[in-house]
Amino acid sequence: MNTRVLKPDESALQEAASLIREGKLVGIPTETVYGLGADALNPEAVASIFEAKGRPGDNPLIVHIDDVEELRPLIAVEPSPAARALMAAYWPGPLTLIFPKSDRVPLRTTGGLNTVAVRMPSHPIARALIRAAGCPIAAPSGNRSGRPSPTTAAHMFEDMDGRIPLILDGGACDVGVESTVVDMTGDVPRILRPGGVTREQIAQVCGDCVVDSAVMRPLREDERPRSPGMKYRHYAPAGQLTIFHGEPERVIEAICETYDQAERDGHRPLILALEGSLSRYGDRRRESLGQDAAGMAHVVFGALRDADALGADVILSEAVEAEGIGLAVMNRLGRAAAFHIVEV
Ligand code: TXA
Ligand code: MG
Repeated sequence: MNTRVLKPDESALQEAASLIREGKLVGIPTETVYGLGADALNPEAVASIFEAKGRPGDNPLIVHIDDVEELRPLIAVEPSPAARALMAAYWPGPLTLIFPKSDRVPLRTTGGLNTVAVRMPSHPIARALIRAAGCPIAAPSGNRSGRPSPTTAAHMFEDMDGRIPLILDGGACDVGVESTVVDMTGDVPRILRPGGVTREQIAQVCGDCVVDSAVMRPLREDERPRSPGMKYRHYAPAGQLTIFHGEPERVIEAICETYDQAERDGHRPLILALEGSLSRYGDRRRESLGQDAAGMAHVVFGALRDADALGADVILSEAVEAEGIGLAVMNRLGRAAAFHIVEV
């Protein structure tokens, strides 16, 4: 199959909408990351998402809508006051809410679960496509399973060339990490995956919000996670990634020492550092993670892809504090490092 990448003008949008209606797959820009979209209510279309990604069938998809009116038919209950407040505050935007599903949503879409994850993206192209297609769109991140999520059309082409007919090129994604996934089926909203909307922002609206304990640690072997996505190794670069956390001067010192030792051992190390400390690493091979946690969210997946492209077999990264958007960044970086975090 020939994969085309098109600027999302009116005719490309209409073509993408027809493909979705025919049960085909389309690469879609969103404000978080690129998604691999298909008709969420068509089980065969959804099955081909799993096939193109190489995704395990029990890992459920997020259903994207364009209007709050489209939510109720997808779910089995009235949204709670807390859910309504969250939607009012953060939809459209990088927030995914989990509800008991209605019979309209195929089990294929939810990985066999009786709950469904729904979000209303803010990206105008994603919204226009859902409208034009006339159906909710199921879309996981557009990477092949286990690769970093794509934040540009070029990343998505790298992973999906030959597997899907069309990618809409909406430029680089604003946020850079995926949406926050919040389970609304219990008494208190529970974050299963931190993302573009922060824990602090959710607590502000709901009064209370818990972060699932599995967010910042590896799963135990016998553990059944609340979100199937937690059990798969994610965002793994080919090289061995280690994160250094602590007082900035000590972090720089520890990274330099580790880098020099790795080089003496014949490795090809690479440093990932915030803009402010980049020059402190002298002429060692390094890549910028941006100015701060938000900047890091924007570039973290691209940096992991670059590390692979550069053939780095040892990757040494600075950390940010796990608060605000920093929690999402440290969750992604932590998983990519199999939570190999060195306290200095
Ligand atoms: O920003 C995003 O959320 C992007 C863009 C394309 O919208 N999508 C995305 O989808 O990141 P995906 O499939 O890569 O990640 C969805 C996560 C997975 O970890 C999955 O296990 C979890 O959400 N999830 C989906 N439905 C769920 C459910 N019913 N219960 C628990 N977890 C669920
Ligand atoms: Mg994903």
